[in-house]
Amino acid sequence: MRKSLIFIVSAMLIISSVLIMSCGDNGGTTVSADAPTIGVTIYRYDDNFMSFVRRNIESLISGNAHLIMNDSQNNQAQQNDQVDVMLNREAKALAINLVDPQAAQTIIDKAKAKDIPVIFFNKEASPQAMASYDKTWYVGTKSEESGDMQGQVVVNTWRANPSWDKNGDGVIQYVLIKGEPGHPDAEARTSHVTKYITENGIRVQRLEELNANWDTARAKDIVDAWMQKHGDKIEFIFSNNDSMALGALQSIQALGYNQGDNNKFIPIVGVDAIPDMLNEIKKGTIVGSVLNDALNQAKAVVDLALNVSTGKEPLEGTDWTLDEVKAVRVPYVPITIDNIEVAENTYK
Ligand code: GAL
Ligand code: CA
Repeated sequence: MRKSLIFIVSAMLIISSVLIMSCGDNGGTTVSADAPTIGVTIYRYDDNFMSFVRRNIESLISGNAHLIMNDSQNNQAQQNDQVDVMLNREAKALAINLVDPQAAQTIIDKAKAKDIPVIFFNKEASPQAMASYDKTWYVGTKSEESGDMQGQVVVNTWRANPSWDKNGDGVIQYVLIKGEPGHPDAEARTSHVTKYITENGIRVQRLEELNANWDTARAKDIVDAWMQKHGDKIEFIFSNNDSMALGALQSIQALGYNQGDNNKFIPIVGVDAIPDMLNEIKKGTIVGSVLNDALNQAKAVVDLALNVSTGKEPLEGTDWTLDEVKAVRVPYVPITIDNIEVAENTYK
């Protein structure tokens, strides 16, 4: 009797230690020992939007693969080292959010040498780099679409609010806060927002444009300076993303603007539709954004990575499609108070 009890207890201990061993990188969820290892990098953890993509990847992959997740801290050399380490740890697929889109070829060459598939996401590699390896895919968006949709929000809200044309000249005097220089999203959003507006019959005049690298604090400093210089002459603030739009909001709120009433108001639009931005849209302090779908982008990354890590075709068992450069494009959605629940649903 006693012997068999000892046997049962020790068997339980062995089983539980095996379970503990196999859950290492996966936050407590058990993964079978023969599940593939998938190596992921995020260009920097403190990027607001990317932190949502990362969390979605973690929860979707949980239980299906051993996950190695890296913060590349905005340093490409560091990311290159992380890729070496993941390949040495026998990762069966890599999902890479590049620091520098120009570095795609370096990563591809490393992976190709070991015949390991690579899925880039959020920062798009050049078509040449994509064509250099048959086991490379991209998950992201169509960057221009976000600029056009931001333009759509501007056109609709401007037409509905004639008082926003403070000098009454029929022209939008705007300032534009740009993301990282050379980032495909930043470039396309910047050119497409004004292209869309002018093609829809509203003239624009640029007062200022500067890079704030997606960052709230930097954007606040920049807008502080612009407000000093132009004040009420600014009729619209276009921001390449929400984090910077929120910095702009902090800046003008400190001067008594956008308190949620219609007294002193400068309209601001962003891109991403992250939860903090949705709260401001509800308060009436921000006019709109464009949903950058963190949930479905993460889902596509995980679907493709799980497939290719086990030797399957990338799209097997999924509804995703690939375009001519082997990219899955997750659609954007323009967001204002009228359809805010669309964005909220992706954050449930
Ligand atoms: C964009 C997003 C930005 C920032 C950037 C990082 O798609 O709108 O907020 O996260 O990606 O590459
Ligand atoms: Ca005007």
